[in-house]
Amino acid sequence: MLLATLGLCTAVPLQPYAYQPLPVGSVTPKGWLLKQLTLQAEGLSGHLAQFWHDIMSSVWIGGSGDGGLHERTPYWLNGVIPLAFLLRNAGIDELPPVAGIYKAPWGRHGWMSTLCESGGEVRGAVIAGGVAGYPVESAAECRDDCAARSDCVGYAAETCSAPVRCWHKGQLPQATAASPAAPVGGKEAAAGVSTCACHGRNIPKPTPVDLMGQVERYVEVILAHANATSGWLGPDSSPASGGQYWGPSNVLQALWQWAEAKREGDAAAFSKASRAMLLHLLEQRRRMAKAPLASWAKARWIDMAKSAEWLIDNARLTDAQRGELLELIALLKAQGEDWDGWFEAVPRTSNHNVNVAQGLKSAAVWWRFNSSASHANLSMAQLSLRRMRKLDAAYGQPTGMYLGDEITPVPHTRSPSRGIELCGVVEALYSYEAMYSVHGTLAFADRTERIAYNALPATWASPRGGDMWAHQYLQAVNEINAIKASPHVWQHDNAFSETYGLEPNFGCCTANFHQGWPKFANSLFHSAPDGGVVVSMWAPAAAKLPSGATVEVDTTYPFGDDATVTVRAAAGTPVYLRIPGWAVKATVNGAAAANGTLFRGVATGGADVFAVAFRPETRLERWDGGAASVHRGALLYSLPIAPNYTVYAHHFGTADMSSDYYLQPTSPWRFALDVDPASPGSTLRFESRGYRSGAAPWNHSNWPTSIAARLRPLPTWSVTANSAAEPPRSPACDAAARCGPAEVRDLVPHGGTELRIGELPVAFFGPPGDGARSPRISVH
Ligand SMILES: *[C@@H]1O[C@H](CO)[C@@H](O)[C@H](O)[C@H]1NC(C)=O
Ligand SMILES: *[C@@H]1O[C@H](CO)[C@@H](O)[C@H](O)[C@H]1NC(C)=O
Ligand SMILES: *[C@@H]1O[C@H](CO)[C@@H](O)[C@H](O)[C@H]1NC(C)=O
Ligand SMILES: *[C@@H]1O[C@H](CO)[C@@H](O)[C@H](O)[C@H]1NC(C)=O
Ligand SMILES: *[C@@H]1O[C@H](CO)[C@@H](O)[C@H](O)[C@H]1NC(C)=O
Ligand SMILES: *[C@@H]1O[C@H](CO)[C@@H](O)[C@H](O)[C@H]1NC(C)=O
Repeated sequence: MLLATLGLCTAVPLQPYAYQPLPVGSVTPKGWLLKQLTLQAEGLSGHLAQFWHDIMSSVWIGGSGDGGLHERTPYWLNGVIPLAFLLRNAGIDELPPVAGIYKAPWGRHGWMSTLCESGGEVRGAVIAGGVAGYPVESAAECRDDCAARSDCVGYAAETCSAPVRCWHKGQLPQATAASPAAPVGGKEAAAGVSTCACHGRNIPKPTPVDLMGQVERYVEVILAHANATSGWLGPDSSPASGGQYWGPSNVLQALWQWAEAKREGDAAAFSKASRAMLLHLLEQRRRMAKAPLASWAKARWIDMAKSAEWLIDNARLTDAQRGELLELIALLKAQGEDWDGWFEAVPRTSNHNVNVAQGLKSAAVWWRFNSSASHANLSMAQLSLRRMRKLDAAYGQPTGMYLGDEITPVPHTRSPSRGIELCGVVEALYSYEAMYSVHGTLAFADRTERIAYNALPATWASPRGGDMWAHQYLQAVNEINAIKASPHVWQHDNAFSETYGLEPNFGCCTANFHQGWPKFANSLFHSAPDGGVVVSMWAPAAAKLPSGATVEVDTTYPFGDDATVTVRAAAGTPVYLRIPGWAVKATVNGAAAANGTLFRGVATGGADVFAVAFRPETRLERWDGGAASVHRGALLYSLPIAPNYTVYAHHFGTADMSSDYYLQPTSPWRFALDVDPASPGSTLRFESRGYRSGAAPWNHSNWPTSIAARLRPLPTWSVTANSAAEPPRSPACDAAARCGPAEVRDLVPHGGTELRIGELPVAFFGPPGDGARSPRISVH
């Protein structure tokens, strides 16, 4: 009946994508992209299931691990599923073994510090009680005792009082049974039995990481434990609340990615996953009649609508089921947050940064449902573009992100010292990928690359550099330290938010970051409505399209300036190559190709090769107070600040693996950029050593490219609340005494820095002074 009032015809499909995404499983990463995805799997992504309570002993597999919203394991699966299939295509089934697994006893803050450093793992746990600890000389003795016993899978040492007390995990049978390897359903802490929450597993032999094995085990358990009566997936603890729909939302996204990857070889798995999604969403619709969307579910309704759209596009449905899903989408919109109105009110209104990132795609996802929908006489395509521009104007950052340290601030600011959350970064990436594929607007593809190649790598750091073991909660473009900062410039997060580690401030990004690189890799190529092959974003990879065509991109982009595209497709198949907006001198096979357009070629039936030369120029972008950021191609170049590292907690593995760090600056950062804004290329000198095969792409030394820049010391640039103050107003050196003599320093890819200045004041407006004798100084 609702259908009739909406004027919906169940036979009408959703509007087609401008560029159809390829099914998960189509892409094979190569070159630096394969290295990056491997580093991700070798880092936290492949190991959380071995040591992080919220994944290892998740409520989704019968344990008690949870962040409170049942969201942690769904987040993780939403990223590691596409990661596992990308690596499988590249022939990587198993990753190197990990040895020496233990939990070290350093403390962090508050009551958690007395037991272990990982806040998420001790939540709600009672360590005393059932089993008494015993006194030891030191935490190391406790660890060694555990290591010496075959029945000890982990230990905790309470070090805040004398004598130190030691507990062994594994002497509690219930706790031992809770690892993912164990039968599912074992409840971790049975009534009346208290348990040690420090989960280091004392594995005597090195254990290889089998990412696909992890994925299969979690998916199998989740599908097997769907409620056979109601269809609900996962823990069902608060049926009365309108917030309950959020937890399973990312399991739906995880399941449809898994189903896509399975479709060709395992039709039964595809049907099983799509049927489980359908039954869950139909149950959600029934519940929404009594418990309307609330809290996160209300803000993030668009992701559930997208999963319902996936079913309509892909699953075998009866007319009645399709009609119910269409009704569900309409109901989600009716009960959900009004993103069209909200974005139009920017910057007079604020919101949670991750909700904003997810809401970005709402007009695009909605357009597929109702292409004639409008808001304030603006089409969905117009709204999508306007919201990107509005965020840029109010909160824009040189990384392509907007600022939002938990909440987008009112009054608005673009301060380069304020942060943005890692969850916001990966959700914004996913939204721009979706907006590009629905609307076909190339500016969204430009933006996807910009965020992926600058903001995403910039928030990882470790003493090894370039791996993915420690991330921040908040990253800043101008970041002079990463310490327990009190006071701090960010407004709504705790003092640890900019430190690097397992779960600084809050564990949501530890669970959610995984989708960033894998979904980006799966968005590199699309199918055009005319059957054409589209190279949408640039990175080294190959893909097989549903049409049977194959495409291969050989490049070191964004570190290199050229790409070779080889297409094998039926004669006459169009080949579309995206020319980025900044590529004003690009050529394809020697002929000029206009920036911000899709170059169109045609396949001849053999192996057609297109040689793309992007020919980027170094360029400045200007920010508030006249400050500048330096860009070339897809990369932002920043002044690296050499850090020293202090380990403040260790969680897992060898010293190279999961630890928490404070970083302090050991090289100067107060500089003005001595550049002629009208002709930046005259003093900024680009240098390329090239990406070396096998190198960590965003390592923090030996950068593949750099830009030598003339900088003038600006000693009056101050520190505010432990962060760099706003860049002093430009021209910053007009009063001559304010700046020191010019020196030449290297600016490097922003993603390859852990501390940096990415937005600098400009020294003079006009040609710079004598620079020929500037001394050359490098960091690292
Ligand atoms: C399954 O759903 C039914 C119907 O909603 C409910 O009565 C039952 O308690 C659920 N089972 C579990 C294990 O949650
Ligand atoms: C689609 O949008 C148009 C224009 O706003 C509106 O008239 C129509 O009712 C909408 N259809 C549905 C199914 O929501
Ligand atoms: C939409 O356009 C109509 C016709 O031009 C106009 O009367 C109306 O005020 C516009 N509405 C909004 C919200 O701008
Ligand atoms: C980063 O570079 C350093 C110095 O060359 C090297 O020791 C380290 O292993 C590299 N990191 C990774 C993840 O390859
Ligand atoms: C192409 O480059 C010109 C010059 O920089 C710029 O004004 C224009 O916006 C670019 N076009 C697109 C579509 O990005
Ligand atoms: C790190 O650098 C800070 C600031 O320069 C200094 O105070 C501190 O002693 C250094 N720490 C280490 C471990 O080198």
